[in-house]
Amino acid sequence: MGINGSTTTTATFDFDAMLAKIKARQWALADIDWEGPGAETISPDLHRRLAPFMADLMWIENVGARGFAAMARKAPTETLAEIYRHFHAEEQKHANAELALMRRWGMLDGDTIPEPNVNVKLVIEFLDRYADGMSLSFLGTVIPMLEVALDGALIKFVTDEIADPVAQEVFRRINADESRHLATDYAVMDLLGHAQARRLMIDFVGGWLKPSLLIGVLSYVPLLNRMRDNIVAMGVDEEKLYAAMRRYKAVGERSRYARRLPMYQVVKAHAGMVINRRHPYHLVADALVKATALVPDAILPPQPSWARELTYKAVS
Ligand SMILES: [Fe+2]
Ligand SMILES: [Fe+2]
Repeated sequence: MGINGSTTTTATFDFDAMLAKIKARQWALADIDWEGPGAETISPDLHRRLAPFMADLMWIENVGARGFAAMARKAPTETLAEIYRHFHAEEQKHANAELALMRRWGMLDGDTIPEPNVNVKLVIEFLDRYADGMSLSFLGTVIPMLEVALDGALIKFVTDEIADPVAQEVFRRINADESRHLATDYAVMDLLGHAQARRLMIDFVGGWLKPSLLIGVLSYVPLLNRMRDNIVAMGVDEEKLYAAMRRYKAVGERSRYARRLPMYQVVKAHAGMVINRRHPYHLVADALVKATALVPDAILPPQPSWARELTYKAVS
């Protein structure tokens, strides 16, 4: 904490050191003993609740992967680009590790990759179509929320529900990766907030002028409520999700640069509504969950081509 009561993480954040750490902490599916004892700790009841949750979680890793792929192309330095390429690969690895767990627990039907829920599908479709056209300051403020509320948080929720030691080992490694993702996400938000106020406004207004953003909002809003419902169905207290979302708010309290980002203020204000169950926002968001559930499969896009890279096999 500085004399004036504010801190800047950029001054202390060393992206080169982060990249070195990421490289040093790499792990592979082959490091895990997938046949190890403990699979029987998953009771039939837990098995039933866990299977759809794991399928969604696995696809949310892919949402993260797709986001980082777009960020890698926008990164202002080669170090950051390389960090994002690693994160992209790590998210795919998380997805594959979760698939391998599902296979271990007998949740997979042969070699078929489970389908995500419709809200995850819509977000993937949106990112696939529009992420590369979004500015770094947009992606760099939205992706951290997805990471803090979903990608990083969901796995922590199931960690407490599952006794299987093999899963615990996998989750420990994924959690360690996620802590580096979040540290970097926050440092980048701080860095982005250093831009001139004029530049920030141009980026912000330009981003919202795109009609695609509306599709993004309409995908993102029901996704959060849908995942909240899934968490509750898993037997996890939804307060845990809200606690995770509050951590996003804390970033702006730590960094006066991050809170200069207009998009940060929007995401934060939105999070404030999400964590307040009595807010009328939920009438709309829950209605969207119901409405999207009615979307016929036929008009939904097929799984994106990169989904073919998904495998539970210990290749990487
Ligand atoms: Fe992840
Ligand atoms: Fe992540």
